[in-house]
Amino acid sequence: MKTYLIIFGSTGNLMYKKLLPAISSLIKKKLFPDDLHILAVARRDCTLEDYLEEAKEQATAEVDWEEISKRIDYFKMDINNVEHYQELAKKVGYKDTLKMIYLAVPPKLISPIAKGIYEGGLVKKGNIDERIVFEKPFGEDLQSAKEINQMLWSYFDEKQIYRIDHYLGKEMIQNILTVRFANRLFQESWSNHAIESVTLIAKESEGVLSRAAYYDKVGAIKDMVQSHLMQMAALIAMEDPISLNANDIRDQKVDAIKHLSFDQNYILGQYDGYLSAEGVEKNSHTETLFFGRAFIQTKRFEGVPFYFLTGKKLGEKCSEIIIKFKRGDYQDKLFASKEIPNNKLIIKIAPEDGIEFQMNTKSPGLDSFIEKASLDYCHACRAVGNLPEAYEKLLLDLYKGQTTLFARWDEIETAWKKVSEIDKKKGNMFNYQSYQDVKDKVNQDFKEDIL
Ligand code: BG6
Repeated sequence: MKTYLIIFGSTGNLMYKKLLPAISSLIKKKLFPDDLHILAVARRDCTLEDYLEEAKEQATAEVDWEEISKRIDYFKMDINNVEHYQELAKKVGYKDTLKMIYLAVPPKLISPIAKGIYEGGLVKKGNIDERIVFEKPFGEDLQSAKEINQMLWSYFDEKQIYRIDHYLGKEMIQNILTVRFANRLFQESWSNHAIESVTLIAKESEGVLSRAAYYDKVGAIKDMVQSHLMQMAALIAMEDPISLNANDIRDQKVDAIKHLSFDQNYILGQYDGYLSAEGVEKNSHTETLFFGRAFIQTKRFEGVPFYFLTGKKLGEKCSEIIIKFKRGDYQDKLFASKEIPNNKLIIKIAPEDGIEFQMNTKSPGLDSFIEKASLDYCHACRAVGNLPEAYEKLLLDLYKGQTTLFARWDEIETAWKKVSEIDKKKGNMFNYQSYQDVKDKVNQDFKEDIL
């Protein structure tokens, strides 16, 4: 069987900065087959040599260009011309070919390309060896997401569709299920009996960079909460799956999100300087920060607040999940005169990959104060070489046909429903210059030390 990776939008950043390095690494590790062919598809008129030259200039991560050059071809086409798809289909072949078709293109191009792929005979509905992959944003709201999905379903089976939420490819996001279910200690205490709160954080140091044309229309809720943070919440809140099969896991994730609802008491922020970023509307009200509280009305998590925080220009890049455990009545009674800190489990997603468990011990020596001690596990330190990038894992799973780390339609639909319940008019927009401003605002508005 031949293997083709066909990438539309090959002259874009995603290709240069993420996909080519990931493909190169998978080839090096011999995880992709020797006969892998890469077809870089774009509309620009250029030779393969010109294309590779540009790719080398733009790539920021390591790529073995010699290996890539052996397998890559450049295919120029007009995405509105069905004959070009037919030519492409002929080039790739109709039988005994695994086709992975990656749409690394802006959302408005998904529809014409999906149609062309189908009408040009590149993909047959129902053939699971012909797979189509695309990236968020999955629509601009619930309605448009539904329309895109209906369109996709008219050409392809759900089993052929791979929707990327790149957070799911991150090592420590993948590790959540192992930490939860492979450790008796956590499995037993994973509920409102022991958990006081869950905080999901995705802070970024960068501002909007060159993406204002996209970002200014969506803002932090649609860009980050609808996708990455909801996925994090689902993995933390889901019930025990009956197996580790993709659909058993995704069933439980969807169920958890269905039970989630946001308080109408949240904070929207905009960083100082956002309005002068190139491409941002003069009086834009787009939020670059969101802080909100949700509850998940399941027996397991009833009454436990899930805090969501995401924002740009917050001084540092940090994605993590903090599970704060309750102080037990018994402990409080026994150590009545002592301050007992809450146990915390911190799942560190980026920039570090690891887990920290904060527990209490006696101070060393002759004293007997209670002290907070930290069991700090560095996941990245144990890896041989660098940990794989999210895209590496996702491309490998795509090749193997493993769908657990891709979002199913009902996950996306449910997440859209939930974020559309956030009535932005009720949020009080504030300007921030630093993370300290955000912390102060959150702790003051919610009247407790949450951050
Ligand atoms: C993307 C968002 O999905 O995730 C970006 O569109 C955001 O706005 C990015 O910067 C964050 O991803 P990561 O992997 O850098 O944490």
